Amino acid sequence: MLEIRKINVKYGQREVIHDLSLEVPAGGVVTLIGSNGAGKTTVLKTVSGLLRPTSGSILFEGRPIEKAEPHAIIEAGVVHIPEGRLLFKDMSVAEHIELGTIRAHAGGRTREQRLEWVHELFPILWERRQQKAGTLSGGQQQMLAIARGIMANPKCLMLDEPSLGLAPILVDQLADAIRSLNENGITILLVEQRVDLALRLADRGYVIETGRVVLEDKASALLENPRVKEAYLGA
Ligand SMILES: Nc1ncnc2c1ncn2[C@@H]1O[C@H](COP(=O)(O)OP(=O)(O)OP(=O)(O)O)[C@@H](O)[C@H]1O
Ligand SMILES: [Mg+2]
Repeated sequence: MLEIRKINVKYGQREVIHDLSLEVPAGGVVTLIGSNGAGKTTVLKTVSGLLRPTSGSILFEGRPIEKAEPHAIIEAGVVHIPEGRLLFKDMSVAEHIELGTIRAHAGGRTREQRLEWVHELFPILWERRQQKAGTLSGGQQQMLAIARGIMANPKCLMLDEPSLGLAPILVDQLADAIRSLNENGITILLVEQRVDLALRLADRGYVIETGRVVLEDKASALLENPRVKEAYLGA
């Protein structure tokens, strides 16, 4: 569904992603693992059109998107939930949810169906629909960021550090929500500091170090891989 082929990405003169290839099959959950600064966010930003690769290509459903505008990439069905949530603190929950629909991918669930789905997944957002985003708790803000993404009707959802700053009970809820999105047909590309959680949610994982893929395997195999255990699972 999403295929990254040998991309290189630079900030100014400095190349931070080198010949990186990655594949996310339709219906799958793929996780991208790596230490701070490895290049995970850069990869997601490049897929969503916020950065341009200097070479290589990115295909979504067989079509090249590496030169497409960010809004066109969303309309094609690839939606990025950024690190740090990027909410507008003075806008209400309901306004954020509405914002998500502006560039929605056409087809599949209707706007009303998505709205119902979002409130089923995150009932608290319905209760708090008039509240300003800036006054929500960290966990609620993360749910709102995901809800806004769902309203864009994604085929493929890219999540960057969704569990960041969440209490353990909220991390469990978030994991359930990600599972439920996937069971309802959304393909997932997940970047997550909690590598054990990421590998439990994913079918496959890629390990990147300083902008290169150094390991790729089934998630279950990566959980048992000594190198992964030592570097990312604290074992
Ligand atoms: N806007 C920018 N300008 C210059 N360099 C950048 C910029 N954003 C990121 N970098 C550099 O690119 C490299 C990759 O950063 P990136 O944010 O993709 O890492 P990451 O894997 O997401 O890390 P983290 O786990 O800390 O979020 C780092 O060396 C970082 O310092
Ligand atoms: Mg990052």
